[in-house]
Amino acid sequence: MNVSDSERAASSLESEGYEIVSNENLADIVLFNTCSVREKAEHKLYSKVGKIRSQQNLKKPLIGVLGCVAQLEGETLFQKSQIDFVLGTKAVGRVSDAIEHVLNGRKHFVDLGEREENYDWSVSETQRNSPYVGFVPIIEGCNKFCTYCIVPFSRGREKSLPAVQIIQQVLELRGKGIKEVHLIGQNVNSYRPKTEAGLEKFKGATTFSRLLRAVAATGMERIKFTTSFPRDFHADIVDAINENENLCNWVHLPVQSGSNDVLKAMRRGHTVESYLKKIDKVRTSPKRISLTTDFIVGFPNETEKDFRETLKLVEYCQFDSSYVFKYSPRTGTPAFQMIDNISEKEKTIRFLELEKIQKIYQQIALQFYIGKTVEVLVEKFSSKNPKELSGHTTCNKVVNFESNFENNKELMGKIIKIRVTKSKSNTLYGNTL
Ligand code: 5AD
Ligand code: SF4
Repeated sequence: MNVSDSERAASSLESEGYEIVSNENLADIVLFNTCSVREKAEHKLYSKVGKIRSQQNLKKPLIGVLGCVAQLEGETLFQKSQIDFVLGTKAVGRVSDAIEHVLNGRKHFVDLGEREENYDWSVSETQRNSPYVGFVPIIEGCNKFCTYCIVPFSRGREKSLPAVQIIQQVLELRGKGIKEVHLIGQNVNSYRPKTEAGLEKFKGATTFSRLLRAVAATGMERIKFTTSFPRDFHADIVDAINENENLCNWVHLPVQSGSNDVLKAMRRGHTVESYLKKIDKVRTSPKRISLTTDFIVGFPNETEKDFRETLKLVEYCQFDSSYVFKYSPRTGTPAFQMIDNISEKEKTIRFLELEKIQKIYQQIALQFYIGKTVEVLVEKFSSKNPKELSGHTTCNKVVNFESNFENNKELMGKIIKIRVTKSKSNTLYGNTL
């Protein structure tokens, strides 16, 4: 979501005549789009601003802070950091106005307002994170209030974008040669627009699965969606994937913990049993759907037994990959009232153990593809080896490969067949046929 917001902030600046430079040392204005989901992410901002301000010999740029830290801290950021302006999560479209205000002598400008009615959700082709992949926000904010999470406070209440607008955007992206769209939101499957306009022709038990079918009908080559909320993840989503070749074989379904006691304290709205039922549905698909998840270890009062239950869940689910986080108390969340009673040392032990076991399943998942042919969207030259190209499969695996083609540039943006020959920790390797 942040990458997508940054794309639009850069696009709007570009359309106002600003030039986006490759290096912050060259910039007259530096913008930070921030994350506050864990304390570490927030501290990164302070140290980066400090670094820029300490480079006395270079020009003194204006510094603006956007995103979640900006929204939560507002005015107080001026005391914590030497910055010039603050724009909340819904004010990214007004970044050039903020710059104008500051250039006209208004010190410490703050805009934490709502998104403008006619907010421009499009992205300029030059500011897209990848020339072949487009992010399409479908729902903003979160109403779930998991006890540890700051997002409902930084991103506000859930608001679904009209289906007609989403479908129109996907069609436009297709016209521009985009091969893959990512429908994004904190909880995409809680999608609930004010009207069902645009979805009339499409079946499905939930509005989200109807939206998936409608987006599939645009003919976009690949459609991925993230993140899904377990409680709202219903069987018809898997049915939609099964029925549409262009709905990709990947589901990201954060579980957080394998202990019902911890899930209850987190107020996640699902149990281990209800989660596993959804996993079973995914696993019975005739397609090989890749499953990924998030975990938090060291939540207040998480016992050794609770943690073992998480390991048991991993053995059952055999996730393709996962993100593991150590619990980080966030001011203002309900869990902040609980005592953060798992020591940093214990959090690290659990983190490492979970990662170790997860890595084994990740290897098994990657090795499944060795000797097989997969379809890869060619996105770039590999950063480690410029002779290799790199892209993603439908199940969101990174594939680096050598090509037999004369002009590799011509392969960019195409979906081609690759024979997988080996796997390393996070990546598949192969050759063109
Ligand atoms: N501490 C640690 N991890 C967190 N996440 C969200 N809030 C916290 C927190 N306070 C993790 C969850 C979520 C992911 C995006 O970030 O696992 O799924
Ligand atoms: Fe945070 Fe829970 Fe909302 Fe996800 S569903 S953004 S973890 S409150």
